[in-house]
Amino acid sequence: MAFFTHQVCRGFSSSAVRNVVIKHVTVIGGGQMGAGIAQVAASTGHSVTLVDTNDDILKKTVKGIEGSLKRVVKKKYADKPEAGEEFIQKVLKNVSTSTDAVSVVQGSDLVIEAIVENLKIKQDLFSQLDKAAPAHTIFASNTSSLPISDIASSTNRLDRFGGLHFFNPVPMMKLVEVIGTSATSQETFDSLLNFSKTLGKTPVSCKDTPGFIVNRLLVPYLLESIRLHERGHGSKEDIDIAMKLGAGYPMGPFELADYVGLDTTKFIIDGWSQMEPNNPLFAQSPMLNKLVEEGKLGRLLSVRPFLEELPQE
Ligand code: NAI
Repeated sequence: MAFFTHQVCRGFSSSAVRNVVIKHVTVIGGGQMGAGIAQVAASTGHSVTLVDTNDDILKKTVKGIEGSLKRVVKKKYADKPEAGEEFIQKVLKNVSTSTDAVSVVQGSDLVIEAIVENLKIKQDLFSQLDKAAPAHTIFASNTSSLPISDIASSTNRLDRFGGLHFFNPVPMMKLVEVIGTSATSQETFDSLLNFSKTLGKTPVSCKDTPGFIVNRLLVPYLLESIRLHERGHGSKEDIDIAMKLGAGYPMGPFELADYVGLDTTKFIIDGWSQMEPNNPLFAQSPMLNKLVEEGKLGRLLSVRPFLEELPQE
């Protein structure tokens, strides 16, 4: 545990330890998060190999990255469309794809895993990669809710294993939570912090505890908002207005829960309440459970299980 106390106390600046310079990154999982992470890493000059289970998904992912880059360029290179097109081509050249994670990690300084949120599947993946990757390769998971130490336990590189928790949409969101377990070495942790900075992000140091910082505060807040409504303290609309106008939040909690996805919110709280059944912050909500059971999940701004009665914008 010495590592983490040390790290949090010292902050980011005073490190004199040698860092692994990260040039080649393997991103595993070409979904929402993996695509964003690959785009940002490639845009900042890293060579990126994107891995998913089949070529059709990978084609779609690369197309998605191209579309996202076009939107970036439209703003950033509004006066210089040719330079914008050149930028897109340069970034896309930095991205290659593969369906064979084991063979591509052999040339990788950092592996970032962004596959399905399932402990056993993540452990199986890392256990295979551990045997194939060079000794210096750092492994990181983008998990939202699973303990990094549980994922890392399937490998023999506990000192070279940490968490890099990005936020959705990755190209827009500035924050990266960098997570060290009690076994993560200082060198690995500093390398992950520095890597996050090279992506143009702002890293914060986190302990390996449920939800790290952002979700640990956000998910109980969303649940308490739903429970507040269930207890009859306010309508969903009034609670949203109150938090927007009274607390200055850009979205109310119901609007945000609809956007995050009700299944995702429930999945996270279910996992935490199993870990800490007596923690009232992790208590279940009958209303949330019912909506998820009915398949009302949200996830897009136009699909609003909580606020469906509002006129759609
Ligand atoms: P997603 O469902 O959009 O993408 C997951 C991708 O991983 C899919 O393309 C799937 O085909 C691929 N995949 C599954 N198993 C694989 C395997 N064994 N090898 C290679 N590829 C595999 O999921 P999303 O939303 O991108 O989430 C990924 C991870 O990031 C999860 O751990 C999630 O908790 C975390 N996360 C999600 C955020 C979000 O807002 N969606 C935010 C921060 C973290």
